[in-house]
Amino acid sequence: MEKGKILVTGGLGFIGSHTVVELQKEGFDVVIIDDLSNTRIEVLEGIEGITGIQAEYVNLDLKNKVQVQAFFDQHKIEGVIHFAASKAVGESVEKPLKYYENNISSLLYLLDSMNDHKVTNIIFSSSCTVYGQADELPITENAPIKLAESPYGNTKQIGEEVLKDVSKAGDLNAVALRYFNPIGAHSSGQIGELPLGVPQNLIPFVTQTAAGIRKELSVFGDDYPTDDGTAIRDYIHVVDLAKAHICALKRLIDGKNKSKMEFFNIGTGKGSSVLEVIKTFEKVSKKDLNYKIVARREGDITAAYADTSLANKELNWKAELGLEEALASAWQWQLKQK
Ligand code: WQD
Repeated sequence: MEKGKILVTGGLGFIGSHTVVELQKEGFDVVIIDDLSNTRIEVLEGIEGITGIQAEYVNLDLKNKVQVQAFFDQHKIEGVIHFAASKAVGESVEKPLKYYENNISSLLYLLDSMNDHKVTNIIFSSSCTVYGQADELPITENAPIKLAESPYGNTKQIGEEVLKDVSKAGDLNAVALRYFNPIGAHSSGQIGELPLGVPQNLIPFVTQTAAGIRKELSVFGDDYPTDDGTAIRDYIHVVDLAKAHICALKRLIDGKNKSKMEFFNIGTGKGSSVLEVIKTFEKVSKKDLNYKIVARREGDITAAYADTSLANKELNWKAELGLEEALASAWQWQLKQK
């Protein structure tokens, strides 16, 4: 029987584009939906520059239910990897309606069309944000879900709840991958993180400071209860993260999932503080980074890093790249930006 395509929503985004590369390397036929609201069409060429394959691309607004239905009428889809969402924590606090409409209604219309067209496999882009400040570290998938600290985090929690209920009620099989902090870029330098405007996340701000685009990095607080006083996160190379999606997709296609809805933490299992990241970056880039310590950022937690044993065992996946390689690849990518 003819194999269906894999739909990657948000496939021209940071994690989406790296996942399309890995899917094409595995021989999957990929179709991308992206409304270009937070990326550039040139990413499509970047992907092709790596794999030699131009993925099919459809510019479609997932908030438009009619367009989504029409898409599924025209494409035979075997599985969906759903990245498309707004993802800036701070912006979500200022514009909650934009986040609830974009992140929730797009998921609902996608699931509705999948149901109508008997597409039963979905990988959902979730986040360690759902744990808030976990009571125990490293964080396992059984850690309690805490009250969301932002509308962005809440849309991830709601998305998981929707998938739980829909998979229980019908034929859908779902995997939620709870990302820790994705960083870095493909070694080819063809694709990477493209923050439009002032970067909210640490690593693009670091590389833009080193490149002279930003005057200095503000370190948000050095009064946390950690060894050096700065907050700790689990920084995972985006290529390792992309590969986890292939493992999860194969698990569903091969019918190896043990329940209709599964959750996996995708991180390295190692925590790094902001100052450790800065020191490592200076080592790999041979640049002195200009930074200053300022007050904590509202809503930030002290520490988060993953217990990845479930993903290691069930997905047969493990992060292979470390912080140095991730930061070096981010720096190489930055140097290629005009
Ligand atoms: C990391 C650390 C900051 C910027 C969020 C979302 C998560 C995911 C990744 C989307 C923190 C510190 C940062 C700066 C700093 N989002 N920092 N100066 O907040 O852990 O996670 O982004 O996929 O779901 O919650 O990531 O990169 O913003 O911050 O000191 O200019 O760096 O305080 O300790 P975060 P981040």
